[in-house]
Amino acid sequence: MASETMTNVPVHVSMIMDGNGRWAKERGKERVFGHFEGVESVRACVEAAVETGVKYLSIYAFSEENWNRPQDEVLALMGLMVKAMAAEMKKLDQNGVRFMVIGNRERLDDELNRTIDDCMSMTAHNDTLTLIVLLSYSGKWDILQAAKKMVEEVADHPERKDEILSMGIDGFDRYLATAGIPDPDLIVRTSGECRLSNYLLWQGAYSELLFVDTLWPDFRKEEFRAALDYYSKRDRRYGKVK
Ligand code: IPE
Ligand code: IPE
Ligand code: MG
Repeated sequence: MASETMTNVPVHVSMIMDGNGRWAKERGKERVFGHFEGVESVRACVEAAVETGVKYLSIYAFSEENWNRPQDEVLALMGLMVKAMAAEMKKLDQNGVRFMVIGNRERLDDELNRTIDDCMSMTAHNDTLTLIVLLSYSGKWDILQAAKKMVEEVADHPERKDEILSMGIDGFDRYLATAGIPDPDLIVRTSGECRLSNYLLWQGAYSELLFVDTLWPDFRKEEFRAALDYYSKRDRRYGKVK
């Protein structure tokens, strides 16, 4: 249920979930323990998003660049995705959460792709919160695939060339992997790193940015609510004078 006390709640909150490895290292454990614990933070943030009335929660789970990590970590992360989706989906569905995955899915294995498809179709009718997992995603990949789609459309429909060339920003939005999803109002990155690491480059053009020192496995409801509080005090001008 949406909180009555919160004002100016962002429609779309996005998380660059960083610091799992360091969280595990601080405890003398393997990096993968941090990833396991990070799933608990995702659960907490989903609950907090539903409670506060946020409509879209997107989470950066694996970048295109993360494929360059050691093979055992990549495999552990992919296995964790399948397990977490299978384990969480029923509850997400019961809570009215629509589940989506965005990214270069050609690089994912068949089992993961099947699980994603199942979860997406199972929850497609929900509209309390849309949870978007950015998986094998990068901002530059997204812009490039959008440009390629446009070129293909012109090649397939030469008669529409002028119409497509005269398209504005909103028209281009439709080719992005995020088509239909409003741009993030707030992007939060955990773990003290102040960079976007090839995240939503186009879509984040006017997002409010919040960098916090908390490591992702420690980012729970209280931290999520604090991020919304930060957002509520921002003055978004979009280049205008107020
Ligand atoms: C974020 O935590 C999870 C992924 C990028 C998959 P990291 O694994 O990057 O953790 P750190 O930054 O090394 O601590
Ligand atoms: C960004 O974190 C990607 C995700 C959170 C999935 P990284 O840990 O991969 O980013 P860098 O390497 O520190 O820029
Ligand atoms: Mg990291």
